[in-house]
Amino acid sequence: MAHMQDHYAHWLRDAHAMEEQAISMLSAQAKRIENYPLLEARIEQHLTETRGQEQALRTLLDKLPSGRSSALKDATGRLAAMLQGMTGALTQDEVVKGAMTSYAFEHFEIATYRVLIAAADELAETEAKAVFEQILQEETAMAAWLQDNLDDTTRLFLMRDERDLQAKR
Ligand SMILES: [Fe+2]
Repeated sequence: MAHMQDHYAHWLRDAHAMEEQAISMLSAQAKRIENYPLLEARIEQHLTETRGQEQALRTLLDKLPSGRSSALKDATGRLAAMLQGMTGALTQDEVVKGAMTSYAFEHFEIATYRVLIAAADELAETEAKAVFEQILQEETAMAAWLQDNLDDTTRLFLMRDERDLQAKR
């Protein structure tokens, strides 16, 4: 049981760091997008959801005996996100790169919550399990939206670029 608790605490801290990274990434993307209003609106919506997820995970973390020893890791995650945002800004196709990155990132989040749901279930942490299931729904919806819109975003980017309109953001 002690080992199980350790793994659970570790995965929960990682998930929290991941959501902090997501907040940085989504804010950077939303701020830069200019010509893709539907994408921008969906990112803003998920940013609000993600802020709620970060808070919900922080509440669960604060209840752990080990507390929040994740400060260093969280800071590292934020730095990584900042660097990624800057790199994205330098590309000529940042909106497409951003949509691809978000699509991959959402699936990483989905995997994270599936693992946490299984662990919480083994530990009979019913309250935490319900939190993870709620978050999983939001991540799944965002992933599905991105999947449905990757085609449109790509075509709109190509069309604007062909016409020498600002396309990259
Ligand atoms: Fe998330």
